[in-house]
Amino acid sequence: MKFSDRANAITPFYAMAFSEKASALEAKGHHVVRLNIGEPDFGAPGPVVQAMQDVMEKAELPYTSALGLPALREAIAGFYLQRHGVAVNPNNVVVTAGASAALLLVSAALVNHGDKVMLADPAYPCNRQFIRSFGGQLQSIPAGAEQRFQLTPHNVQANWQNDTKGVMLASPSNPTGTSVPESDLAAICDFVKSRGGWRIVDEIYLNLSHHGDAQTVLAFDPDAIVINSFSKYFGMTGWRLGWCVVPDDMVPVMERLAQNLYICPSTPAQYAALACFTPETLNVCEGRRDILLHRRQRVLDGLKQAGLSVDVEPDGAFYVYINVTSTGLNAMTFCERLLEEQHVALTPGNDFGEVTGDDYVRLSFAASETALDEGIKRIGTFLASL
Ligand SMILES: Cc1ncc(COP(=O)(O)O)c(C=O)c1O
Repeated sequence: MKFSDRANAITPFYAMAFSEKASALEAKGHHVVRLNIGEPDFGAPGPVVQAMQDVMEKAELPYTSALGLPALREAIAGFYLQRHGVAVNPNNVVVTAGASAALLLVSAALVNHGDKVMLADPAYPCNRQFIRSFGGQLQSIPAGAEQRFQLTPHNVQANWQNDTKGVMLASPSNPTGTSVPESDLAAICDFVKSRGGWRIVDEIYLNLSHHGDAQTVLAFDPDAIVINSFSKYFGMTGWRLGWCVVPDDMVPVMERLAQNLYICPSTPAQYAALACFTPETLNVCEGRRDILLHRRQRVLDGLKQAGLSVDVEPDGAFYVYINVTSTGLNAMTFCERLLEEQHVALTPGNDFGEVTGDDYVRLSFAASETALDEGIKRIGTFLASL
């Protein structure tokens, strides 16, 4: 069969390849410590699981509006007010099948053939695929440790061209766990807005930020396009539910796209997600944020002891981007040998960036403390063996 150029251009995730290798080792009876996937080990909070059980008792679960259940859109808007003190009109909230579908719809809505879109290298790999799939061109800006692996206002101004249509960034970021400082983000948004460009800000890790009071970009750029999800803060990866907040004139466009591309997000997941915004559930999620903070410190201390360098400590997402150049191995070899010899799965930086991808590996600390301790111990043994 001959597949489209679009499909052929999409590259697989190395993270998944490492998961498959890990499964093969497990099938042979080995105990593999999996620190390669960005998936919280907590699962959905209890009240949300209970709500899902109640929902399943309902006789009918028809399609909802393509934009999502009105009650859920209101609850999400209410969360912005309660958590960030920012008034969001529920009409601007679009519930989607995960942040992935939000990124897909937003890219479909905005990117024309030949449009340039600016993003940092390293960044979440799917963003490159979304832009390219709709004919856009990437303006990948190398963002090293000295700038916390994030775009700076200077980068954006210096690289802006007539056919640059917008920026796409995640704060905090995957794979580095680092945030764009609020003043930088405001300056980037101001500049891009002054050029008539759009700002897509992925805040999927925002509510896990280590400071707790991390602010949404909507507080200072109400017309920014904001992506978020139930996957990370609420621990609901497999439920496939997320949302975005978009400007008024974009809502009907998003509605038409969602109607045609997948009709609506999962109805039972949407009803159950109403239970996410109760004080009881939010308490559970805040408790988990504290647990992640504790794990972060354990991992940073362990890596330091093992002699590995973390150029920039994460301040938001549950990832550590580790510099492996001191080992003399490139990221891919480091990950392959670590998995084969010590049965620890990490992800090579090549998944996320082309410029320094060979120098870094990503560790996800959204795993149990036992797994993290064992993983760090084995990493130490591996390093000693080199
Ligand atoms: C930065 C970022 N955006 C979006 C996603 C997609 O998340 P979802 O599960 O909501 O589709 C991920 C998943 O890891 C991510 O790291």
